Amino acid sequence: MTAAPRLPGDPSPAETVERMIRVDHAGEYGAVRIYEGQLAVLGKSAAAGIVREMAEQERKHLERFEKLVVERRVRPTALTPLWHVAGYALGAASALLGERAAMACTVAVEEVIDEHYRAQAESLGDAPDEAPLRKTIEEFRADELAHRDIALAHDARTAPAHDILTAAVKLGSRLAIRLSTRI
Ligand SMILES: [Fe+2]
Ligand SMILES: [Fe+2]
Repeated sequence: MTAAPRLPGDPSPAETVERMIRVDHAGEYGAVRIYEGQLAVLGKSAAAGIVREMAEQERKHLERFEKLVVERRVRPTALTPLWHVAGYALGAASALLGERAAMACTVAVEEVIDEHYRAQAESLGDAPDEAPLRKTIEEFRADELAHRDIALAHDARTAPAHDILTAAVKLGSRLAIRLSTRI
């Protein structure tokens, strides 16, 4: 099922897919919370419209993974309460630094998600059983790249403390992915 040869101690193909759904569900949940945090601060700003649009798309992503969690009997991450708070806090904190910082946060998150979804799609390979999941992942990856481009078009690169903010958000996102895969 997976493209790479399986080594002793590696998760089974079924476990691998279960982990994918768990972490993606967690990630989309976190994404919704980030945008809710941003909107709590920027709800009346010029950027509110586009942030709301991106939030709406994240809600659709989350709904799809909620369905997959049920259908495929995946145990959701135990860290949902953490992502509930951390996602919102990240969104609100970045927005408090200003619209451009909120956009820089989006770019950083989406760049990590792009890598993440790309690796998942690759590891699913051409397994016919998982073609629908792969299609979902590819579709959502395209949406995330569109979010990145929207944020770039809204001056993410000129945000104050851009490099530090980007590094911190990427580190946090990667850690969240690692934790939500297993826990
Ligand atoms: Fe998403
Ligand atoms: Fe996104």
